[in-house]
Amino acid sequence: MTAVGVELRRVYGAYPTGVTVVAGLVGGRPAGIAASSFVPVSLDPPLVSVCVAHTSTTWPLLRGLPRIGISVLAAHQGRVGRRLGSREGDRFAGVDWRSTPDGCVLIEGAAAWYVCSIEHQFRSGDHDIVVLRVHDLDACTGVPPLVFHGGTFRDLADAAHPAHRPTG
Ligand SMILES: Cc1cc2nc3c(=O)[nH]c(=O)nc-3n(C[C@H](O)[C@H](O)[C@H](O)COP(=O)(O)O)c2cc1C
Repeated sequence: MTAVGVELRRVYGAYPTGVTVVAGLVGGRPAGIAASSFVPVSLDPPLVSVCVAHTSTTWPLLRGLPRIGISVLAAHQGRVGRRLGSREGDRFAGVDWRSTPDGCVLIEGAAAWYVCSIEHQFRSGDHDIVVLRVHDLDACTGVPPLVFHGGTFRDLADAAHPAHRPTG
């Protein structure tokens, strides 16, 4: 990676995000990637987005599916985030997942999940911006999310600096 690329990663990493798993059944087996680029886009119609690198070898398998699952990882699922974001081995080994009748793969114990279909895709630099329509969704109240910040996984309590806690 170029020096500019390293600097971009460092500065982009200062923006905290959640961590999602974008996944579906391909030939009866789960396929998916970790994605920290998830963003809710629209309420009416319900749309969300993720950005996917042109180098992804998994996205070409997922983008042909009628439905794609997006799971928002919970604070205790750092290991799942690492596995799904790694390039080696069986990503789903040791990961609890379930499939829906329409072929989505969702991570058990996630903080929230979406069943989506692709609405639009736009090329943008070295990524595609993928806008997805939401067909079903739920959030597990009280399950805290995993946070990705500065290249590491954290939870919300970690991220809160004591000086910024309300004093009143
Ligand atoms: C925390 C984390 C967040 C990631 N977010 C994205 C993302 O938003 N978009 C993306 O294309 N890849 C992202 N990746 C990389 C993918 O998960 C995956 O490693 C990459 O797509 C290469 O695998 P593939 O060739 O099977 O697609 C992320 C990885 C990690 C660990």
